[in-house]
Amino acid sequence: MDNLRVELGERSYDIIIRNGSLNDLGEIALRSGLKGAAAVVTNPLVKRLYGTRATNSLKKAGFKPFFITIPDGERYKNLKSLSVIFDELIAKRGERTTPIIALGGGVIGDLAGFAAATYLRGVPFVQVPTTLLSQVDSSVGGKTGVNHPRGKNLIGAFYQPRVVVIDPEVLKTLAPRELKAGFAEVAKYGVIWDEKFFSFLEEKVAEILTLGSSVTEAIRTSCEIKASVVGSDERESGLRAILNFGHTFGHAIEANAGYGRVKHGEAVAIGMCMAADMAESSGFCKKGVLSRIEGLLKAAGLPVVSKIRISPKDYLKALRIDKKVSAGRLRFVLPTRLGAVDIAEVSEAKITEFFRKKTERKR
Ligand SMILES: NC(=O)c1ccc[n+]([C@@H]2O[C@H](COP(=O)([O-])OP(=O)(O)OC[C@H]3O[C@@H](n4cnc5c(N)ncnc54)[C@H](O)[C@@H]3O)[C@@H](O)[C@H]2O)c1
Repeated sequence: MDNLRVELGERSYDIIIRNGSLNDLGEIALRSGLKGAAAVVTNPLVKRLYGTRATNSLKKAGFKPFFITIPDGERYKNLKSLSVIFDELIAKRGERTTPIIALGGGVIGDLAGFAAATYLRGVPFVQVPTTLLSQVDSSVGGKTGVNHPRGKNLIGAFYQPRVVVIDPEVLKTLAPRELKAGFAEVAKYGVIWDEKFFSFLEEKVAEILTLGSSVTEAIRTSCEIKASVVGSDERESGLRAILNFGHTFGHAIEANAGYGRVKHGEAVAIGMCMAADMAESSGFCKKGVLSRIEGLLKAAGLPVVSKIRISPKDYLKALRIDKKVSAGRLRFVLPTRLGAVDIAEVSEAKITEFFRKKTERKR
């Protein structure tokens, strides 16, 4: 058994990472102290692929599962879908003890988690992430929420799951583009925390993306790093902000492209390159970091520059609405070397200068 643990006092929980663990979902939920009716929140695609396996396992363990199905896509991570979940829970007489089980990618996990945080002021929550991105990132750490037309994830809550059940085998059905997008978050952990892990990824990138045996190790190390960071700063008052590496620019790209057009992981890949570029050009780190990050991301088939043209003005507009703004100055997570990052506050004038130089270099 390859269990990890997120240490958060009475809210601590296990992350179970094992091929075939989806078949043991019921048993695992039971061992986590859950019982009775269980709401499985999913989307039509994941339901067709894994719904029966999940509910059969739950039934075998004595649960009475029922599905709540939300249409597939980032654009459904909104208040309307949340209402649909509440309506279904009320119709099925969901109680304080009725667990909500998120079966799907990050969209389902974020949405179902926020429903679990708020329905009857909080019901038990189980994460069964089925994309690489959700297995290495969104299912661990308790950030839940929905988008607002003015910005991503603007409405939400910190709410930890009781247990996270990761079955790497379900990645076999994932579209290659989704797998690559998830890999961006895996690469992020190497940059922010562990140069050795980064080198491992450089060596194994092809094998990971064809789901060879290294994929479980890549997921495990990613979850280990995320668990350490979250365990020491659950609510992002300090260290946890480093997980946003690449996300400040990434969110600006997503917002300008329109949600869903650029995948979150793709936007993060471009954002990480922009942040490394900013770090190098401002002397925050030595030259060479950007080229290694670009090299790994390119090897994974990820974009390293935005295909959508975004003007510096539009970037700034989006950056200002992002949550990483502190007293008018914009906060960026920048690498100090490969395997370590720091938070830098950058004035708007400096950001404009960075974009100007970038454009000049392109000419
Ligand atoms: N809460 C957090 O800490 C956190 C962190 C990172 C990202 N996120 C959020 O996660 C979301 C992105 O998550 P995502 O990349 O998983 O996207 P997603 O949930 O939209 O899933 C991507 C696609 O893969 C499909 N899919 C899921 N599992 C599958 C499987 N096993 N086989 C085949 N198809 C499958 C989905 O139906 C969907 O079409 C964004 O909303 C982002 O904001 C949250």
